Amino acid sequence: MHYLVTGHTGFKGTWLALMLHARGHQVSGIALDPVDGALYTDAGVHEVMTHDLRIDVCDAPALTRAVDELAPDAVVHLAAQALVRESYLDPMGTFRTNVNGTLNLLDATRAAGSVRAQLIITTDKVYRNDSRTRGYVETDPLGGRDPYSASKAMADLATQSWAASFDCPPTAIARAGNVVGGGDACRDRLLVDLQRGFAGGVAVPVRFPDAVRPWQHVLDCLNAYLVLVDALLEGSGQGEWNVAPESQDLVTVGRVADSAASMWGDGAAWIHVPGDHPHEAELLALDASKLRRELGWRERLPFAEGLSWTVDWALGRREGHSARSLCEEQIERFERLE
Ligand SMILES: NC(=O)c1ccc[n+]([C@@H]2O[C@H](COP(=O)([O-])OP(=O)(O)OC[C@H]3O[C@@H](n4cnc5c(N)ncnc54)[C@H](O)[C@@H]3O)[C@@H](O)[C@H]2O)c1
Repeated sequence: MHYLVTGHTGFKGTWLALMLHARGHQVSGIALDPVDGALYTDAGVHEVMTHDLRIDVCDAPALTRAVDELAPDAVVHLAAQALVRESYLDPMGTFRTNVNGTLNLLDATRAAGSVRAQLIITTDKVYRNDSRTRGYVETDPLGGRDPYSASKAMADLATQSWAASFDCPPTAIARAGNVVGGGDACRDRLLVDLQRGFAGGVAVPVRFPDAVRPWQHVLDCLNAYLVLVDALLEGSGQGEWNVAPESQDLVTVGRVADSAASMWGDGAAWIHVPGDHPHEAELLALDASKLRRELGWRERLPFAEGLSWTVDWALGRREGHSARSLCEEQIERFERLE
């Protein structure tokens, strides 16, 4: 199978390219250049790519041409401006990439003809947040207060409209929560900031220690994505799907920080820094029972284990192991957990 992964130079895209490669697939990618310190570069992932293209998804003609020429069997659309705080700094760019970029991709795959399955990645933040304790289900209303969440809700609705209105490839939407895993380079993600601070020997400032998120290891999330692509290829799986751990893995930011600090050892510490931060939802719970019930997906790494794989990865890197070998070894272990 030939997969096209958009956003392959990002965190999830890098792990996905390696996972698909390990499963024996061809992988091509469309994205911007990796950010400084990106796992993509550190792990030399360009070596496993069939085609590694740098195209802005807002450039519709270039995107359409590339998708046509690559002629992939399946597409996973990850490319996005993926950070809430950045979306306050660059709202126009965020909406352009996340909404227009997704529409451009949908139009390109409709024209290409080769695509037999396409998975559009949005987020748990697409739901209209009312801080309920029950997890959001796929039929709950969409919303989004900050520009990132609103742009992703718009991309989600645009995809639903597209799939309902046009003769396009079998399409699914995956709404996942926060992921953790080795090698994330994006600032403003809790574990990334924690590990950077721990490594530098400073107490790490944490903005919202009481906020609750459904934490999940990146490999569990990507495995769910590939379960969805397989379902599409087999004639089911169309529509919207939450991807989330069981409810006991709904954990506060503070507890994640405590656990990470104790796994890291070496005097690692964090402090709560209250202040005038841009709004972020306090509680985000997601119910993935549809995915479990209808497609038999199960996570393989409970919260504590996913966290320890993430910290182990960072400690392994500090000890001089190569990023590529750490990723490949964890992917191999993950696949054996089946
Ligand atoms: N990481 C998480 O915890 C998380 C949680 C929920 C949803 N998501 C979603 O998963 C997807 C991947 O997230 P990530 O954590 O890997 O993000 P990331 O920031 O690490 O990677 C983003 C990728 O998108 C590409 N990209 C950005 N703008 C682009 C443009 N204009 N044209 C082409 N490519 C562009 C980047 O080059 C990069 O490859 C995103 O859609 C994000 O919204 C992530």
